[in-house]
Amino acid sequence: MSVPKAARLRAEQLRAELERHNRLYYEQDSPEVSDAEYDRLFRELVALEEQHAELRSSDSPTQRVGGAPLAELEPVRHELPMLSIKTETDTEDSGAANFDARMLRELGAQAAPLEYAAELKFDGLAISLLYEDGLLTRAATRGDGEVGENVTQNVRTIRSIPLRLRGKPPARLEVRGEIFMNRSDFERFNQRQQAAGLKQFVNPRNSAAGAVRQLDPKLTAQRPLRFFAYGIGVAEGWKLPPTQGKVLDALEEFGLPVNGERKVVKGPAGLIEYHRRVGALREKLPFDIDGVVYKVNRLELQRELGFEAREPRWAVAHKYPAQEEVTEVVGIEVQVGRT
Ligand code: IVH
Repeated sequence: MSVPKAARLRAEQLRAELERHNRLYYEQDSPEVSDAEYDRLFRELVALEEQHAELRSSDSPTQRVGGAPLAELEPVRHELPMLSIKTETDTEDSGAANFDARMLRELGAQAAPLEYAAELKFDGLAISLLYEDGLLTRAATRGDGEVGENVTQNVRTIRSIPLRLRGKPPARLEVRGEIFMNRSDFERFNQRQQAAGLKQFVNPRNSAAGAVRQLDPKLTAQRPLRFFAYGIGVAEGWKLPPTQGKVLDALEEFGLPVNGERKVVKGPAGLIEYHRRVGALREKLPFDIDGVVYKVNRLELQRELGFEAREPRWAVAHKYPAQEEVTEVVGIEVQVGRT
């Protein structure tokens, strides 16, 4: 029996509406509807899909709940290795100036002033998302950079990760980014764990990493995970933008969450200003960062600079001085052990 047109239209409308609310909630932190209203729309879609099985498409928000538990996570070989970034240990302004000087030595002084994409260094778990004809078909962890783990089922439960890209996405596009937790979500999650007598986590990063590598996607679905895209891997059927900055703009247009604190800057002064500004902002960010990242902006120059061991020559992570914190000892428990 074919599906009545009205039901099909309503299902499409509900899907678009639910995904829009997901974006408002997770990307813009400005929900328009209450959780109860969201649940009402969600349940209406579930009911429609139950009535008409043909309406249940793989990109429906109802398909984010998590399927059956897996016996193990399968290995995935990355088509392009997932690299790490060299860390600049000099946390002062001179750290940024060193990087710029090194790039100019490699590229020649005539390249000055060099343009850089300056970004936050998110402190979570690196992830590769493969979109084929706009549909999310596979998600993999970084692993050792060559072989990661297939975590597609788990990643599908993360509501800020689109199951389908908007606009005219490439035939194949691998999006790379970081899965993480906001500090306040983490605190709340840990309190719930404690109240339920379950395992507590030491920080948002551990908690996010554990959640993504779960065997039971229903457990992942209960964790407040978020995602920011910071780059691409494989891209087929796409005219590559000329710069890292434009790549991120394009990803944003495809509906992927890209953090707004990114900036294209010029020369060492631009890097230093960005490093200082983010340093001052750091405490106010809702999530932890592990410093900032500078990337030579032009992809052509990135190709010219190439790689060295497992790290690109065109990028560096610039950290901040370790923060001193005052810790109050609230109690000491003395226990007598076997010996
Ligand atoms: S780019 C250029 N950009 O840092 C090499 N990585 O050591 C490819 N990370 O675990 C990575 N924020 O997941 C890049 N804005 C950012 C990042 C970022 C966090 C993580 C990445 C990886 C580690 C690299």
